[in-house]
Amino acid sequence: MQRVSERSEVEPFYVMEVLKAATERQRTHGDVLFLCAGQPSTPAPAAAREAAVAALQDGQVMGYTESTGMLPLRQAIAAHHRETAGIEVHSDDVVVFPGSSGAFTALFLAAFDPGDTVAMTRPGYPAYRNSLSALGCSVLELDCGAETRYQPTVAMLETLAEPPAGLIVASPANPTGTVIDTRELAKLARWCEEHGTLLISDEIYHGLTYGREAASAWATSRSGVVVGSMSKYFSMTGWRIGWLLAPPALQRPLEVLTGNLNICAPAIGQVAAIGALTSGHAELDAHRERYAANRDLLIRRLPDVGLGDFAPPDGAFYAWCDVSHLTQDSVAWCTALLEDCGVALTPGVDFDTVEGHRKVRLSFAGATEEVAEALDRMAASPLLKG
Ligand SMILES: Cc1ncc(COP(=O)(O)O)c(C=O)c1O
Repeated sequence: MQRVSERSEVEPFYVMEVLKAATERQRTHGDVLFLCAGQPSTPAPAAAREAAVAALQDGQVMGYTESTGMLPLRQAIAAHHRETAGIEVHSDDVVVFPGSSGAFTALFLAAFDPGDTVAMTRPGYPAYRNSLSALGCSVLELDCGAETRYQPTVAMLETLAEPPAGLIVASPANPTGTVIDTRELAKLARWCEEHGTLLISDEIYHGLTYGREAASAWATSRSGVVVGSMSKYFSMTGWRIGWLLAPPALQRPLEVLTGNLNICAPAIGQVAAIGALTSGHAELDAHRERYAANRDLLIRRLPDVGLGDFAPPDGAFYAWCDVSHLTQDSVAWCTALLEDCGVALTPGVDFDTVEGHRKVRLSFAGATEEVAEALDRMAASPLLKG
């Protein structure tokens, strides 16, 4: 019999399964509106593409780079944090990975041992839970409802029998788009410092907020880790460049681990990222304005479509909607909706192990016309007439 480890028995990342079904429907019907994947529909900024093209035309080798990333990239990332968050960051603080997903695996290995407990929100980003489980860590889900805007609080941590080894926060969050209040984030950072809990602050949606500031955890405490990525604000998901701002004690373990796990992040992605980080942001800010228009459209029209129960997102490009009046099986319902009208949404089971069968996530990262068309199709679908 073929050997397969027990640790690999984790939940699939359902978004990817939905994307597969939607791509197949697109092949056979050509009518899909992709509101499932959390990715911009726009290409990398012109400066990134130009930098990549120039490097290829020059015949640059594109070989392995330093494990922690090319120095000019680490310098550009440090400068980006200084400019956007007003925090002092040095290139030595930055470790570059193949996407923030690659960063999480190395960080969990660097910081936690099997059996350690790591807390995260429910609802929350599923890959944290599934990767931690595969590595033998115990995941403690903090039940975060609408009353705390789906974000954790110090009061929740105070109720725990003992401090966890780690706490992961995401602001703006996936799947809710909500931002942690700046003072609460500072309180969480201080609590973690005092209790020996490693705070992991996923800030990959920074730059994508709508009238509400998202603070950086490093503005309060540098003993935590900040997670960044080129994927979202910079519209570069497939280029696979992410990074960590790490305290000194974790820098060398992260370098050693990523050297073994990945050798380095893709060289072409690093070159393109330098281009994006060192040029103006007008193109990217225009994307944000489009997301803001999409958000306003959803806030206005979702109640008429029958999906009125959601927290207006402060950032990212997601709406987390209750569908309990329509179904108790969000996976079957999303499959039926795709079949009925070609609208691809993500079932909530990915993000919430308890309530997810009554929730769906809409991603509004696409074109405004597509979001409007999806709303029209949903309004006409019998599946929305609960
Ligand atoms: C909250 C959050 N963190 C991390 C990631 C991983 O992003 P990447 O590996 O592209 O940097 C995602 C992707 O959707 C996400 O939503």
